[in-house]
Amino acid sequence: MEFSIKAASPEKLKSDCVAVPVFASGKLSPAAQELDRAAQGQLSRILKQGDLDPKPGSTLMLYGLPGVAAVRVLLVGFGKQQEVGAKEYRDGVRGAVRALADAGVGEAALYAIDVRVTQRNAEWATMHAATVALETTYRFERLKSKSKDDKKALQHLVLGVSGKQARGLDAALVRGIAIGEGVNFARDLGNLPPNICTPAYLAEQARDLGRSHKLKVSVLERRDMEKLGMGSLLSVSNGSRQPPKLITLEHRGGPKQQKPVVLVGKGITFDTGGISLKPAAEMDEMKYDMSGAGSVLGTMKAAAAMKLPLNVVGVIPTTENMPGGNATRPGDIVTSMSGQTIEILNTDAEGRLILCDALTYAERFEPAAVIDIATLTGACVIALGHVTSGLFANDDKLAHEVLAAGQTSWDRAWQMPAWEDYQEQLRSNFADMANIGGRPAGSITAACFLARFAKNFKWAHLDIAGTAWKSGREKGSTGRPVPLLTQFLMTRAGIK
Ligand code: BES
Ligand code: MN
Ligand code: ZN
Repeated sequence: MEFSIKAASPEKLKSDCVAVPVFASGKLSPAAQELDRAAQGQLSRILKQGDLDPKPGSTLMLYGLPGVAAVRVLLVGFGKQQEVGAKEYRDGVRGAVRALADAGVGEAALYAIDVRVTQRNAEWATMHAATVALETTYRFERLKSKSKDDKKALQHLVLGVSGKQARGLDAALVRGIAIGEGVNFARDLGNLPPNICTPAYLAEQARDLGRSHKLKVSVLERRDMEKLGMGSLLSVSNGSRQPPKLITLEHRGGPKQQKPVVLVGKGITFDTGGISLKPAAEMDEMKYDMSGAGSVLGTMKAAAAMKLPLNVVGVIPTTENMPGGNATRPGDIVTSMSGQTIEILNTDAEGRLILCDALTYAERFEPAAVIDIATLTGACVIALGHVTSGLFANDDKLAHEVLAAGQTSWDRAWQMPAWEDYQEQLRSNFADMANIGGRPAGSITAACFLARFAKNFKWAHLDIAGTAWKSGREKGSTGRPVPLLTQFLMTRAGIK
């Protein structure tokens, strides 16, 4: 989809459709007021009929409005005028774009940036309009033999501004597009089936991204990992026919001496549980167990596309977790790259086993901060549901930066404790630690396990088990937390 920003009177735009915000109790946005004036009050008379539910995202399509050049006018509810927050604004834009796409409109103008959003500015509104529009029109249909949708696709969206403050919003638009495309890239990787999206496929995607976006990419093979002593990571791949990979991507947008932010993404392309086999129900969803990796690739793509003036490194340990004659057994003890030994009591707690070696590997980049992203624990879904990602950190300032990025991007995280007190649950009689900490506080003990490998840098961990994908009828990847991560990097790069 193409975007542009235009300062123009909505009644004069020759367009397939002009979409304008309206509020509860018949209040009109500036653009809606202009249309109403041009149509000699027809718009307010229609609204008085009460056909438009005022809740954010509801729509009413009108045809042949007098005095208006566009073929159609779409009224879009944004809720109560004084109470438009981030959620209401995004719901409004999403509803508008969905209605435009459903109507088969090829080109349209949406006057959303005019809406005053509590505690947010026009740059924020521009960025989010683009991101939400791209997220809303996303489809994953490449593996259906026939596309059932023969409607015209929404190809061009004009973001209209009826006032004159259009200047200075171009950079925000570029960033909003970059984030939306990063999100949709991560969603594609997540939605691909596990027989296609293998560790080798992720490595190939990283290399392609490197070529198209000028990133330095390298891929370590099994023998390289053996040389580095990554016994923990390698133990997870023992049961699989697919060779494991350790992918590194580097975006060097900042000064040479600037220490990079390192993003580490869990890349289990399918998690059967291994010998500690998972039950059959919904096991297909364990194709999404590489969503952390997908979010790192999506974020690197976004950072490169917006030419972010910051050094960023992505590290992706990727493998399958399969049972097999050579698979790791419960009771096996492995030695991690850090030298710490691990008694593997449950082969289904594999995410932490690949991440711990990737965290140790991250030390070589002398990171300013490391953030790992992982669909790590079912317990996190029980704790926080599907609304917010779980955040853990060994540094309060870093934790606050991540939380703030979640608020700005509306891709929220919520901090949980990673206190020393929980460490004793990981005690092992035979090794330095066990890889599980029992039923209580499952996502905390998983984070505490990782913390043992993050002692030498500032570290945050995002458990995205509840937020990376949706189940049921709407099954599909969400692309989270690409918006949070990209916003975090943008703030670090000094972008307001
Ligand atoms: N990938 C899963 C976590 C998961 C499960 C995410 C369900 C989303 C939905 C992870 O590898 C796992 O299996 N974790 C175990 C850990 C347990 C054995 C300590 C879990 O959460 O059950
Ligand atoms: Mn598992
Ligand atoms: Zn897993």
